[in-house]
Amino acid sequence: MTPTTHTRRRIDVDDDWQDLAALFAIRDDTIYLNHGSFGIAPRPVREARRRYIDRLDCQPMDFYVRELEPLLANALARLGQLTGTAAHNLVFAENATFAMNIVADSFPLSPGDEVLTNNHEYGAVHRIWNRATGRVGARHVVARLPESFESHQQIVDCLMNQASDRTRLLIVSHITSPTALIMPVQAICREAARRGIAVCIDGPHAPAHVPMELDQLGCDFYTASCHKWLSASLGTGFLFVQPRHHDTVQPQLLSWGRLLPKRPEQWFEEFIWSGTRDPSGYLSVVAAIDFMQQSVGLQAFRDRVRWMARQTADALIELTGQLPLGRDLDLWYGSMAHVPLPAGDWSQLQQHLWSQYGIEVPIIDFEGRWYIRVSHHLYNTLGHVKTLLDALHKAFR
Ligand SMILES: Cc1ncc(COP(=O)(O)O)c(C=O)c1O
Repeated sequence: MTPTTHTRRRIDVDDDWQDLAALFAIRDDTIYLNHGSFGIAPRPVREARRRYIDRLDCQPMDFYVRELEPLLANALARLGQLTGTAAHNLVFAENATFAMNIVADSFPLSPGDEVLTNNHEYGAVHRIWNRATGRVGARHVVARLPESFESHQQIVDCLMNQASDRTRLLIVSHITSPTALIMPVQAICREAARRGIAVCIDGPHAPAHVPMELDQLGCDFYTASCHKWLSASLGTGFLFVQPRHHDTVQPQLLSWGRLLPKRPEQWFEEFIWSGTRDPSGYLSVVAAIDFMQQSVGLQAFRDRVRWMARQTADALIELTGQLPLGRDLDLWYGSMAHVPLPAGDWSQLQQHLWSQYGIEVPIIDFEGRWYIRVSHHLYNTLGHVKTLLDALHKAFR
């Protein structure tokens, strides 16, 4: 591939992004505005993965026994560079959900302890902590965040006011799923540390979407997926563990840890070999990082998709007459536009947009009110947004 250098691409000109958009093989009948749920990998990532599968299928013994460990170590080192930490603080997991389950199974909780989440967290994360706390007689407390998001300090104060002296762990999204808000995670970690509360950040939307500096963030655990904004293969995620917790975190799936005759000695080595499986997704994370850093340019990517999301949000606000939860769009949102829909029952709208227009976009029921969440990635154009707005205009009449 010989892409145009990213410095020459203008954020507001679709044509400047066409060479990159062409690398995403999206079905012709689809306008895909839901990268935030399931990302799509560009051709260089799919080809890299295919090459690993071929190498594995041709000589599994050589691949597993001699090649796998250095390849995984390199992939984790690259992921560490992207996310601001050392490889020895990271392990691959299939997705953020898997990583969160590892934390839930490892974090020491006693009867009466509290785990604090909030009402913007991902539903499955609530389920994970309901089970983990229920097993030991601890409590899962769901904090309520304000109706409108005005300032970072307001959110930190609101969360901390709902913590108690029994709160052991706070779970917070880096970017929330039902509401697309970028949370003030650094300030939350700082305040939690002051109170002796550990923090696990649920960050599947963060890699590539926003800058990450895990060592500086001050969290105890960070769970993420690479198959969202980083556009790695589906089924690729990771877990970051702060060194002081290395000794307590264990894999849920116990196997050899490393292939014999090697033996696991450090915490992360327990996660290298969890039985015979296809590691091609993890290994091709390197191709996704190369693509986003070198072919696209991370800052250029962020500028483009943020600009698009801002255009979409402004147009949706005008169309619906509704205000988004985060009042200052530049402070609270990245590449996803998130706006309430006019009053009414919009439970059929997502399916209607798909069946009538081929538009994939989530329509979300959050706290009894309907919202639209529009994701923007390299393959999206202003034309896609216009088709969506025209369709919504008709639906609202
Ligand atoms: C905030 C948040 N947490 C967790 C998840 C689960 O991610 P995955 O399915 O990659 O495990 C999602 C998925 O959209 C999410 O948005």
